[in-house]
Amino acid sequence: MPAPLSLPPSFKSLTYTSPSTPPHLTHAPLPSPSSLGPKDILVKIHAAAINPVDIQLWGNAMIGWVAGKKEKGIGRDYSGIVVGVGDEVRGEGEGRWEVGEEVWGLVMRPTGEGTFSQYVKVTVGIDPIARKPKSWTFEEAAAVPLVALTAFTCLDWLPAANSDGGQRRVIVAGASGGTGIWCVQLAKKLYNCHVTGICSAKNADFVRNMGADEIIDYTSQDIQSTLLSSLPEHRKYDLYIDCVGGTSVFNYWTSLLHRKGAYVTIVGDKTSRTVLGGPITYLTSMSQILRFVKGWVFGPRYANVELYTKTELLEKVLKLEETVGVKIVVQDIVKGILDEDEYEAAWEKIKGYMEGGRVRGKIVVALE
Ligand SMILES: NC(=O)c1ccc[n+]([C@@H]2O[C@H](COP(=O)([O-])OP(=O)(O)OC[C@H]3O[C@@H](n4cnc5c(N)ncnc54)[C@H](OP(=O)(O)O)[C@@H]3O)[C@@H](O)[C@H]2O)c1
Repeated sequence: MPAPLSLPPSFKSLTYTSPSTPPHLTHAPLPSPSSLGPKDILVKIHAAAINPVDIQLWGNAMIGWVAGKKEKGIGRDYSGIVVGVGDEVRGEGEGRWEVGEEVWGLVMRPTGEGTFSQYVKVTVGIDPIARKPKSWTFEEAAAVPLVALTAFTCLDWLPAANSDGGQRRVIVAGASGGTGIWCVQLAKKLYNCHVTGICSAKNADFVRNMGADEIIDYTSQDIQSTLLSSLPEHRKYDLYIDCVGGTSVFNYWTSLLHRKGAYVTIVGDKTSRTVLGGPITYLTSMSQILRFVKGWVFGPRYANVELYTKTELLEKVLKLEETVGVKIVVQDIVKGILDEDEYEAAWEKIKGYMEGGRVRGKIVVALE
């Protein structure tokens, strides 16, 4: 049995009180490993990643409605080392964990917990968590969960294989971003599809390297005519994955996608980077609802989706890494987010990256 760890009495996190107010460092008591719930795991975080949704939630009052007035955390992705395990999930083997194991995962709770924190408590069966491969650094592992899980959700809309054996054709808009690179990789490596990536010219080689067969440069080419003119005879596309938002494709989507095909978006009709997207926008957008119903009845399908938060999908990523390998791209590792003198500058830097929308791959924050 490993020697009991000596843990500090309190831990530091980056938190905020009201929407859009500058975050600050808070100190909270660290739960002792003996006080953990039966399925809880306490993780000392080494790295976390920033996602657009972190900025969107920080600016949104909704979290406050659920979490109340308490301090709300920032960050969903993390990687780190297990320092405490509840009784029912302690031990060796699948679904069980031991102190000292290196892990990566996601904390996506409406109650406002964040991973820009020295420690996080997660619950097996609720929060996706997996063992970190030795081949990945902590920074690489933190760059994967949210975006890879989102890509699996999108690819779930890929229709069944063609009866004539022809390769299915997938379009990924926003192919150079955090989610886009996983959509390209899964479409290619897991489903053996023909992939068209939509990105700017400066990212063309990068997206090809992720597995795209064809590139459309959205800054210089007309997307509609290029897509429609590259359709092989008698064959339309199977899936359009939208990681950017907007409505421009709906002028011609029935010409682009066959009846059993689908247009799946993780953003919705809006294009703002700082406003919350995903299926919650069905509540405010009648056109999305009509499109969903029309697509369901007549095809092609339309769906505005939210990532699946499932441990099995993190394990699928690990299988893929073992069999064909996956590419993890970290554009920048930002330090100082929990440092008294540096956190304000670090926060401005990562916020700027997310608002700017020009990141290739992921931005990670190093906590150790
Ligand atoms: N519903 C969900 O569950 C879910 C999950 C994850 C993300 N999202 C949302 O999905 C969106 C994308 O997230 P992300 O993390 O993948 O973003 P990201 O990594 O920040 O995306 C940045 C990338 O988008 C590219 N881009 C920007 N405008 C583009 C355009 N018009 N056409 C093609 N590419 C463009 C940029 O390339 P250039 O520099 O070349 O323009 C850059 O590489 C965000 O709005 C996010 O909130 C939703």
